[in-house]
Amino acid sequence: MTTLTLQSPLDMHLHLRQDAMLKAVAPLTAETFAGAVIMPNLVPPVDSLERLQWYKKEILAATGRDDFEPYMTLFFRSYTREELEAAKPHIIGIKLYPAGITTNSEGGVSQIDQAEPTIRLMEELGIPLMIHGESNGFVMDRETEFLSIYQRLAERFPRLKIIMEHITTAGALALLNQFENLHATVTVQHLIITLDDVAGGMLDPHLFCKPIAKRPEDRTALAHAAVSAHPKLSLGTDSAPHPQHKKECCGCAAGVFTAPIALQLLAGLFEENDALDKLQAFVSDNAQRIYGVKPPAKTVTLEKKPFTIPASYGDVVPMWAGRTIPWSVTSVE
Ligand code: DOR
Ligand code: ZN
Repeated sequence: MTTLTLQSPLDMHLHLRQDAMLKAVAPLTAETFAGAVIMPNLVPPVDSLERLQWYKKEILAATGRDDFEPYMTLFFRSYTREELEAAKPHIIGIKLYPAGITTNSEGGVSQIDQAEPTIRLMEELGIPLMIHGESNGFVMDRETEFLSIYQRLAERFPRLKIIMEHITTAGALALLNQFENLHATVTVQHLIITLDDVAGGMLDPHLFCKPIAKRPEDRTALAHAAVSAHPKLSLGTDSAPHPQHKKECCGCAAGVFTAPIALQLLAGLFEENDALDKLQAFVSDNAQRIYGVKPPAKTVTLEKKPFTIPASYGDVVPMWAGRTIPWSVTSVE
């Protein structure tokens, strides 16, 4: 039996929502991950220290365990130096959304120039900037069109740690390699699927997310970087739960739910690429180094043993519901 042991897996980009959804999904991540970067796109957004501290408490109560660390983020707006200094010990970074680009991002930034005073303070104080990097152009080109903004920020703020969130293109990877202060996360689905899986045959709403899955050559480039443990790339699942009726309808919400199956799917991908020995770096070691975090101890064992993905987790349908995949999580200690 092939087995694989992972130490303290981390999910560097996660949506947990609030209330009943939070209570349903937070334990699923906390089961196999030692920590996660929590996205602030609630309604209203998490854009004050007070709201952030309230949200962190809610998350800890929902997971009910002490071997899971929520790494909190603030929603980007113009912040004063005093606000940033007060927030710094409590956050891993600040998440910038272009206005209206995805779920609950209406209060995002419409002019990146107007964001510069806050970004300059973040650089000075050593607070990482996490960015949803898409323009409002043609859906397949949105990330590519945003690359010039990443480049300008990387050049203008050389000491700012910039995280290109959920990259989906070969071009984004190329840019990542050009600037020392750029880092990136990538989701499980963007390593495995292309737009064909979403919309090339029967439409699969459970694979619909922003940024949308791209071309085969993009997937190949991303998967190659992941399985070779690219030192500037970490797992960020962007697991984004929506209730079933918001996905299986006209006007489907964007978001793929992978939290409880992410490690199993990754084990399959890394094994196919003869790279099981690189998975530890991709799911934890790189992130520990890039973000300077020391997660709680948690040992997750996977075995090469078929696992049928449940039809749903409560009211949330996961990616590939009902499919049998080759790897299972068999113990967590
Ligand atoms: O598909 C997505 N869903 N992309 C995002 O950027 C946000 C997320 C959500 O919050 O549902
Ligand atoms: Zn996200």
